[in-house]
Amino acid sequence: MSYPNSDGPVDTVADTVDDHAPVLVVKNLTTTFATPRGPLTAVDDVSFTLRRGTALGIVGESGSGKSVTARSVMRLLPKSNVTTTGEVSINGIDMMALGPKELRAMWGPEVAMVFQDPLGSLNPVMRIGDQVAEGLRIHHNVSRKEARAAALQLLRQVGIPSPQTRLDEYPHQLSGGMRQRVVIAIALSCGPKLLIADEPTTALDVTVQAQILDLLSDQQTERHMPLVLITHDLGVVAGRTQEVIVMYAGRIMERARTPVLFRDMKMPYTEALFRSIPKVEYPSHTRLAIIPGRPPTMVEPIRGCRFAPRCRYAQDRCLEEEPELTPAVDRDHVYRCFYPVGTPEGEQALEINRSNGRLTPEGELIGVS
Ligand SMILES: Nc1ncnc2c1ncn2[C@@H]1O[C@H](COP(=O)(O)OP(=O)(O)OP(=O)(O)O)[C@@H](O)[C@H]1O
Ligand code: SF4
Ligand SMILES: [Mg+2]
Repeated sequence: MSYPNSDGPVDTVADTVDDHAPVLVVKNLTTTFATPRGPLTAVDDVSFTLRRGTALGIVGESGSGKSVTARSVMRLLPKSNVTTTGEVSINGIDMMALGPKELRAMWGPEVAMVFQDPLGSLNPVMRIGDQVAEGLRIHHNVSRKEARAAALQLLRQVGIPSPQTRLDEYPHQLSGGMRQRVVIAIALSCGPKLLIADEPTTALDVTVQAQILDLLSDQQTERHMPLVLITHDLGVVAGRTQEVIVMYAGRIMERARTPVLFRDMKMPYTEALFRSIPKVEYPSHTRLAIIPGRPPTMVEPIRGCRFAPRCRYAQDRCLEEEPELTPAVDRDHVYRCFYPVGTPEGEQALEINRSNGRLTPEGELIGVS
């Protein structure tokens, strides 16, 4: 899979980012599940702002809290075993204050989501046309005929071949990529002012993945629609987003404008994710670098930096203290690390770990798998 250059034209857009009004404001968002093993804090004090017309990437390994962040923002989590605190506002509307009826009115026209399991979110016994038209009929009170015409137009926009025929087909008659396009058409049907796409290309082959991501980016640009793009693959956000949040164990570890992150990442965790990006020049059988070790369970209390057991740079201090989010030279760049990548402190930490036998001479962790 090829990735667009992170130093592409989005840099220019990012330069105007401050002129854009905030669409999504998240402050101190914390979501905790009651589990048989105790409270599990899946999202821990997360704050960020998304501005009009821009795309924000949320990147992290499996279990880092990306989907729970999205579902907390949407207010889609069941009340029974979940506590969510903090602030979420979408275009000035306080999501935390809304009741079920008001939330249903938000989902579609104000904010829409492409789910991580999009195929599962299609109704297998409902025709494609009816599924795409459903939101329009609910929110815009249009006739069946008008909704069908709008559904046809949407299927065209998302690149479905023979859209007229597809209107009367069922999900099982479509390929995975086509079904994914239908899911995106449904999300776009009410003209959302904000779109959240949670791993929108899981389970698709690499060529189709790139097409779907390009479709989302095109729609985002054409509609001047803010987009939150969630992925475990740092490569996906390059060239497709203006800003990136890197999450680990429920926390924001680093946040920066996308080109800045790729040029000047400070977090060892971001560096580890970067090392695991598939590179086109590698032969297909090449084993990708994976990050050794496992993330914490988030049930047991965590002391020190959450990434310490897996970090090539970790020193004694990291086991005792958790770093605060610290601003870097770039105005929008923050990170949490005592020994940042590419700094004299970071280089010294690597040297110490090489000499004390924690790292191989090539700088790989020893004894963590
Ligand atoms: N309903 C739930 N009950 C208890 N724990 C949950 C629930 N949903 C998620 N979690 C836990 O919250 C943490 C974050 O999960 P989340 O789904 O947000 O991860 P993710 O970053 O989206 O990962 P992936 O890339 O695998 O989708 C995980 O430890 C997960 O096990
Ligand atoms: S604070 Fe320490 S353990 Fe955490 S990422 Fe930085 S160097 Fe690694
Ligand atoms: Mg997820």
